[in-house]
Amino acid sequence: MAESSTGTTQEQSPSGLPIKPIPGNYGIPILSPIYDRLHYYYFQGHMGYFKSHAAKNNSTVVRMNMAPGMFISRNPRVVAVLDAKSFRVLFDPSKVEKKDVLIGTYMPSLSLYSGLRPLPNLDTTEQLHSSLKSFSFHLLASRKSHIIPTFHEAYSSLLDSVEAKIASGPVEFNSLNQSSAFDFTCNAFLGAVPSEVIGPSASNKAAIWLLLQLHPLASRLTKFIPWPIEDLLLHCVPLPPCLARSDYEALEKFFSKAGESLLEDAANKFGLSHHVALHNLIFMTSFNAYGGFRVFMPILLKWLAYAGEVLHRRLAQEIRSAVDSSNGTITLNALENLELTKSVVWEALRLDPPVENQFGHARTDLIIESHDTAFRVKKGEMICGYQPLAMRDEKVFTNAEEFVPDRFVGEGKKLLEYVYWSNGPETVVPTMGNKQCPGKDMVILVGRLFVAHIFLRYDTFSAVHDGMVLGLDPRMVFKSVEKASDQ
Ligand code: HEM
Repeated sequence: MAESSTGTTQEQSPSGLPIKPIPGNYGIPILSPIYDRLHYYYFQGHMGYFKSHAAKNNSTVVRMNMAPGMFISRNPRVVAVLDAKSFRVLFDPSKVEKKDVLIGTYMPSLSLYSGLRPLPNLDTTEQLHSSLKSFSFHLLASRKSHIIPTFHEAYSSLLDSVEAKIASGPVEFNSLNQSSAFDFTCNAFLGAVPSEVIGPSASNKAAIWLLLQLHPLASRLTKFIPWPIEDLLLHCVPLPPCLARSDYEALEKFFSKAGESLLEDAANKFGLSHHVALHNLIFMTSFNAYGGFRVFMPILLKWLAYAGEVLHRRLAQEIRSAVDSSNGTITLNALENLELTKSVVWEALRLDPPVENQFGHARTDLIIESHDTAFRVKKGEMICGYQPLAMRDEKVFTNAEEFVPDRFVGEGKKLLEYVYWSNGPETVVPTMGNKQCPGKDMVILVGRLFVAHIFLRYDTFSAVHDGMVLGLDPRMVFKSVEKASDQ
């Protein structure tokens, strides 16, 4: 306790911040969660929704309803953490339980995963979390040398298609990326290309399965469906999982065969049954990795396009001279030396993290601290972090709303501690004891590869950001590419 200037006593947190009640409220049951959902998806958008609650309550820790709300969520009430400091409570497994909260207040039907709970839905206290996370580390380590060649195969062909089509008009990136990202991810992990084995519809099958899980988060599917109808269709009841059954069966067949040796490793090295290992392998590849790259590549392209020709020329120079020094090939070593390219990838992830929200239930009664105030949270309350605001915290990042390509060069690397896209600070490594993304290093590597492939081919390019695909990833359209002058 501390005495204030008015003589009243003020309770303090262990680090000396005043403890205050969390501002905000949940409104009228049933009606307010629906009203809030409409604001989140249609009237304000995700960023506007969180910003308005923070501004109205003059606090970055605030009570609010989280979409999709009624009638699909177990409970829409959350405590939102919206600054770089309070957000970190979500990274502490001793403080938050992360059981069945991957998608938030809503849990898809387990029949989409053959009845089991995939790794990201397991809490660190569950034994299976450790075995499966170790398996994910094994997968990534054993296939590391395949990432560069398989990326080259998939994305060189994507850029060939862009060049072939661009003479006759603008070329949408996202539809090409949908199949390239799936081919790349499966080829990198399993050594098999799904569009060759299953056929050209392979990535559609994965996309339909993803949509069946993520539809409560999607919005603005098409301008032909009025929003009230779309809201009823996407956000009120789960779409029947059977809509994805035949697609999932095709994936299951493909992964059983192409993943045979990994599944043997899962049994022999990690004691996992064939059933558990197979469905988790499908999930890691098709949800975590493919789902992530579907969103991440357009985000990176968006910021590259936005930054324009001056940055393009600097990147081209850095990338080409590193590749020249390694005998004309892209190597892990060459990519490691690309200071500006690395910074650009982190800056895109800072401004636009592909997975916007993280969730967890307070394990016990807790104190959460923002920069200047502390708040009590009760055991069992749901905490919801919104990364795009936490990583635009002006108390940490100067000109936080701006894309600053060099932000993480040299001394700027100190700020990586506040880059949270992987569900943990960029300076921390994923382990069996935390819930950080095991694909963290691969994602950063793939980001650098993407930038390198573009600027080995082109001196500059232009592309426009034209709305969102499903309300989840930016729709990017190439307008022109200028081939490298030294080719
Ligand atoms: C751009 C791509 C990716 C992004 C943005 C991303 C992001 C994330 C995030 C935010 C989480 C934490 C989710 C939560 O608990 O709230 C996570 C977890 C996870 N990610 Fe990634 N990820 C990506 C790629 C990958 C890749 C390539 C793999 C490869 C295996 C992977 C495997 C996983 C797994 C298994 C978990 C669960 C970890 C655990 O439960 O301890 N991710 N990822």
